[in-house]
Amino acid sequence: STGTRYEAENATISQGAVESNHAGYSGTGFVNGDNVTGAYTEWTINAPAAGTATIALRYANGTTTSRPAAVTVNGGAAQNRDYPGTGAWTTWATDTFTVQLNAGANTLRVTATTDGGNPNLDCIDVTTGGAS
Ligand code: GCU
Repeated sequence: STGTRYEAENATISQGAVESNHAGYSGTGFVNGDNVTGAYTEWTINAPAAGTATIALRYANGTTTSRPAAVTVNGGAAQNRDYPGTGAWTTWATDTFTVQLNAGANTLRVTATTDGGNPNLDCIDVTTGGAS
């Protein structure tokens, strides 16, 4: 299996902005989504074949309140993930989960489900090909 990194600053952002004022991010910045329910970051990710992929999402939440999100692939059923406080906006953590991808291009959208919005989002590492 192989891993590919997709930076949040290259994703589609609804209600948010790319920023770089908290160190430790990958690439050139991260997405600071607005503090509203429904704000999202959506990546387009490619899979060589249909099947299970592992997503490692890097985030920071400098508050002490969780920022849960709904993860959807290609507009399908939501998978709810929780993003608790990481201690500081410069402390980045990784949330790993699996999704089902089609062969070719897929959208992976992370949507805030509370009015705190999403945590700051840095990147996702996508590993396709399943266990080996
Ligand atoms: C602060 C922080 C931002 C963060 C925001 C938030 O303003 O500097 O990076 O996105 O809080 O609460 O979401």
